[in-house]
Amino acid sequence: EKGTYPHYMIKEIDEQPAVIRRLLQNYTGKDGKLATDTAIAEALNAADRLYIVACGTSYHAGLVGKHLLEKIAGIPTEVHISSEFSYNMPLLSKKPLFIFISQSGETADSRAVLVKVKKLGYPTLTMTNVEGSTLYREADYKMLLYAGPEIAVASTKAYTAMIAVFSVMAATLATAKGLTLGFDPVHEMSLAALAMEQMIDEKAQLQEIARDYLSITRNAFYIGRGLDYYVCMEAALKLKEVSYIQAEGFAGGELKHGTIALIEDGTPVLAFATQEAVNDHIRGNVQEVAARGAHTCVISMKDVTDRPGDSIILPKVHEYFTPLVCAVPLQLIAYYAALQNECDVDKPRNLAKSVTVE
Ligand code: F6R
Repeated sequence: EKGTYPHYMIKEIDEQPAVIRRLLQNYTGKDGKLATDTAIAEALNAADRLYIVACGTSYHAGLVGKHLLEKIAGIPTEVHISSEFSYNMPLLSKKPLFIFISQSGETADSRAVLVKVKKLGYPTLTMTNVEGSTLYREADYKMLLYAGPEIAVASTKAYTAMIAVFSVMAATLATAKGLTLGFDPVHEMSLAALAMEQMIDEKAQLQEIARDYLSITRNAFYIGRGLDYYVCMEAALKLKEVSYIQAEGFAGGELKHGTIALIEDGTPVLAFATQEAVNDHIRGNVQEVAARGAHTCVISMKDVTDRPGDSIILPKVHEYFTPLVCAVPLQLIAYYAALQNECDVDKPRNLAKSVTVE
């Protein structure tokens, strides 16, 4: 039930810090250490390459997952859109393992791939929010999101839960391989949950951003680099589906290769700049669009990438866990933009919660 909340979407956005904390508890072993089921850890470590297959928001979580699996655990990982993979299968490695990510566990495009790769005899794992769903039942291995029922059509808490499960997976695989993490994953993820809570308390500020940047526009851009680029893809999808503003999530450096032609006087360009290594570069990209008249908004991270004039400064978290924190402002901006445009936020036109046709 949505209780005192006006919409499920805002309720589910608010629940995210608690979801992360519960998830951490559920993935903590008796020894107090973060753990993935032993059989799952063995299967994942036995693979020479992981193939993540998903749609929409879950695909975007998969992109972050790839980054974490490769950087933290050193496991080569590819991410594919289910509907493309089904009918245009790439060359596979010798020992692949397939990871299906699906909030509902019922997405037909993803199931089509599961059926195909099972026929080929490859091991499969489903990461889902729904125990007993089709993809849950049909995969060899399962990992739950523990996000609680997600009612709003636009996925929010499942997205951050997926990223958190990938973090657990990457940290435990790294430890199993004898790699040194250099950070305490439970501590860093708890800090991320706290930072998410702090952003949830900034609703008024995010509503103001939606009003200043998105109230009289038909289009908008989100730009970022590295992990921020993946966040931008999710930010654009969320904005499109709930507010009907046409949006694109773009790699900062790629704009100048064509898309910058779309920038006019007043075009909103929102930049996520949380990654220290590419901060100068993304700032340069913001300059490029500002010089062509764009209405720019920079979202940065305190004591890491922040600069005078930034519109939103996120609390500092470990560089791997910035997408968890960025998720809150991107979701809230989309939510308030939808309210402004008088859209049905919980049930956007033309969409269904689970997509059971290919
Ligand atoms: C966007 C959204 C969709 C789903 C996609 C996959 O907010 O909800 O893009 O993420 O349809 O659904 P699942 O995760 O249920 O397979």
